[in-house]
Amino acid sequence: MSQYPHLRLRRTRATAWSRAMYRETVLTPADLIWPLFVTEGQGVEEPIGSLPGVSRWSLDGIVARAKEAVALGIPCVALFPNTPAQLRDDTGSEAHNPQNLMCNAIRAIKDALGDDIGVLTDVALDPYTSHGQDGLLDDAGYVANDATVDALVGQALVQAAAGADIVAPSDMMDGRIAAVREALEDEGHHNVQIMAYAAKYASAFYGPFRDAVGSRGLLKGDKKTYQMDPANGAEALREVELDIMEGADSVMVKPGLPYLDIVRRVHEEFDVPVFAYQVSGEYAMIEAAVAAGVGDRDALVLETLTAFKRAGASGVLTYHAPLAAKLLNG
Ligand code: PBG
Repeated sequence: MSQYPHLRLRRTRATAWSRAMYRETVLTPADLIWPLFVTEGQGVEEPIGSLPGVSRWSLDGIVARAKEAVALGIPCVALFPNTPAQLRDDTGSEAHNPQNLMCNAIRAIKDALGDDIGVLTDVALDPYTSHGQDGLLDDAGYVANDATVDALVGQALVQAAAGADIVAPSDMMDGRIAAVREALEDEGHHNVQIMAYAAKYASAFYGPFRDAVGSRGLLKGDKKTYQMDPANGAEALREVELDIMEGADSVMVKPGLPYLDIVRRVHEEFDVPVFAYQVSGEYAMIEAAVAAGVGDRDALVLETLTAFKRAGASGVLTYHAPLAAKLLNG
């Protein structure tokens, strides 16, 4: 058997042209979805302390970011509202107000850019509830599944009516994908897609996000009765299978890097596009590494995003989307 010295795997790595030719995974701006935080007002930019480099924007700023995304070749933005405190209540009723911040942001982007960009919206009650949970609480303080599903359907419908292209339930209630799909069909929203947060874990990596949507101080307890146990992998495949059967167009795994094994398993098991969410805590970890002088931001960003694609992801939601797109566009 001819081995070394005939066989040298370093041979193809010796030059840049050769490395480019043998590269298995190619990351492009079209692989990126850019999450944006919306806030009230006009001309407002509020930096988020725990997410250095990320701000909440009022509608004018949100439209400017969406235009920036188009210019960079980013196909889709994901919207999250920082609902004013006085509009939050026990049932998250502001979530199905057709004039809420989220719906106004969807309309503002669609009026300015039409189909030049996709708008993905989060379906869950946590930015709207006074208790910070994603659903409605029963008398015992348990997040009640079926009542929450009804509320989520109402929320998804106002988002679709405002022009959302993709609704993305992130609540982890049972049966919500089927309920949302059926309601969308009934209302004639046949081409509104559903990206299901199918395998969403009860993770310690969401802290900065909760600051960004103003729910950190409100949340008591945790989300372990609905979000998945980080120890479980097989269960993620069951979640994904159910969401596909219920009508999801694509599925998501969240958080990202610590769950690349799940991305890989979903990709191998199912013929459905799988997206990964590099969440707020992951972004903050990269920024902290850069601030501490222990890593190069550009290199960390491109390496981590490429790893998602190598694992089988169709795309990645990341707060580093504009930076990554700039780097990729050269
Ligand atoms: C809301 C939601 C969360 C995230 C996206 N949608 C937070 C949570 O479940 O508590 C987290 C995103 C991030 O950390 O970047 N259901």
